[in-house]
Amino acid sequence: MSIKTILITGANGEIGHGLIEQLSEQGGMHIVAMDMVPIEESIRLRCHRIVTGDILDSHLLETLSTEHNFDTIYHLAALLSTRAERQPNLAHRVNVDGSLNLLEIAVTQSRLQGREIKFIYPSSIAVYGLPDIATKQRVGKVKEDQWLTPRTIYGINKLYTEQLGRYYANFYRQLDAEPPKGQVDFRGVRFPGLISAATLPTGGTSDFAPEMLHMAAKNKPYTCFVREDTCIPFMAMPDAITALLKLQAAPREKLTRMIYNVGAFNPSALEIFQIIQKAFPKPDVTFTSDYRRQAIIDSWPADVDDSAAHRDWDWWPKYNMEQSFAEYLIPAVRKRYAIK
Ligand code: SER
Repeated sequence: MSIKTILITGANGEIGHGLIEQLSEQGGMHIVAMDMVPIEESIRLRCHRIVTGDILDSHLLETLSTEHNFDTIYHLAALLSTRAERQPNLAHRVNVDGSLNLLEIAVTQSRLQGREIKFIYPSSIAVYGLPDIATKQRVGKVKEDQWLTPRTIYGINKLYTEQLGRYYANFYRQLDAEPPKGQVDFRGVRFPGLISAATLPTGGTSDFAPEMLHMAAKNKPYTCFVREDTCIPFMAMPDAITALLKLQAAPREKLTRMIYNVGAFNPSALEIFQIIQKAFPKPDVTFTSDYRRQAIIDSWPADVDDSAAHRDWDWWPKYNMEQSFAEYLIPAVRKRYAIK
């Protein structure tokens, strides 16, 4: 059996870490890991090749494409929502132009290799935009095709990139009179907020949950930037990695959509605080809502309907809220910060 080659962009980020660990445990593949910043040593050792560079550098991507035959591209690199609001122009370049560069590479590779190249894309609940809290509370779980009116540039970038993926996946099907030899098999999941014990996100708006946990574990004070009643869906990082791998492995004919919601649990900020409070003595948390970040979170749905993912590719999270904290997050952060 030939060894597969996998390209991962944004490899040094939160999802990248977990994904590289899982893929390298599976074995049988070469991981080409790319990031703007040098990749951490623990992850570096698991990769076949490390590329430090920018996804906006088309020349670098083209060179990579001539040097490898990729089977699958996991395009994880992105600027998250809070940071993107501060630098919308940069966000557009990284999140849209960068994604376009990667999709072009996937098309080139599929034509050269004469086969399907899988393109796995983490989208986000930020693609949804609820107009106000009353609507958010009323609608509860949103389906994939509802409320696609994002308020943030990040949500707009993600939604547009989903559409680009659909376009590139269908492009040659529409053009070629003959059955095409190569295609881009674009598949995306819309992630809720993710909580990892191993890493902290940077520049996201769902960061209040992981930050509250890590600061409590480090015994440091934390000002939570959303109200106590704020509610969005969350997921433990191991389940997010499982979702990417399961979607990647699903037989094409089972997939009725290109983009799927995935959910796990949807606590309020207060419920997260209460669960952390049980594990760490007297966490020093104050709730001071930040006007801008609160507005972003209030426009995201309180929950997602992920029944299509259940049905099509047997998606089920391993961790509900209690299990996420009791079996994964709390023991792992205790170990990380060496708390007895
Ligand atoms: N977690 C991301 C953010 O907060 C949303 O996908 O920006």
